[in-house]
Amino acid sequence: MLKVLTMRSIIFSRVVTIVKRLRQSNIVHCRLRHVSNVSSDLIAPTPADHFLSFCEEFDDDSRLKFSRDMVIVDNFVSESEEDSMMDELKPVLKEMHYEFDHWDDAIHGYRETERLKWSPKNMQIIERVRRIAFPSETSHIPLVHVLDLAEEGFIKPHIDSVRFCGDIIAGISLLSSSVMRLVHEKEKSKCVDVLLPRRSLYIMTGTARYDYTHELLNKEMSIFKNEKVQRGRRLSIICRNMPLK
Ligand code: OGA
Ligand code: MN
Repeated sequence: MLKVLTMRSIIFSRVVTIVKRLRQSNIVHCRLRHVSNVSSDLIAPTPADHFLSFCEEFDDDSRLKFSRDMVIVDNFVSESEEDSMMDELKPVLKEMHYEFDHWDDAIHGYRETERLKWSPKNMQIIERVRRIAFPSETSHIPLVHVLDLAEEGFIKPHIDSVRFCGDIIAGISLLSSSVMRLVHEKEKSKCVDVLLPRRSLYIMTGTARYDYTHELLNKEMSIFKNEKVQRGRRLSIICRNMPLK
């Protein structure tokens, strides 16, 4: 019990940090719905695992630990910000074809680009992601990864290489909601499905970043807590930090 309480206070302090950063960013409409039992005017009292669906292998303690390392911020971008991002990306993506052929690729049915310069409005969104998801002293990878998955596209299980990416991965999901599955690399029966609502941000760190593979389920498999998730074309905008030394 004491352990659970300690975990709760660790999660509480991490969440308070994120809430503080959100406040500084004036995202007052943002509700951290994954957090429970935390009294703050910004946080709705919804269960800690609102966007997480754990398999039976998880006890209370490991659920709490995991929810600290896989944080979902619902409504991170507004509809108009989503439009603004898409307006900037559409002309770039239009020139590219979706890749379906390479079955050994980690991703099926995708096109992607990396972007350094953004319009001022969109740069503000990128800066907000960096401010909220990463500590202030972070060395960011300057190029932001844009991954456009076709309706039939999916991402196979993988762990982002530590040679190319640091300890935090933060991604905005645009155009449609989806389900990300995390499976413990060594204990395959430990798995968590994560609902990534359209226009949400996920922040993956710690055990979720290093000990679990992540994959993005295809349209047919996109079911969360027994409910079908309408998976169409889905675009993610992913910020990463530099590999750790
Ligand atoms: C990746 C990846 C997840 C996403 O590109 O390595 O896991 O949200 N992407 O698109
Ligand atoms: Mn990845």
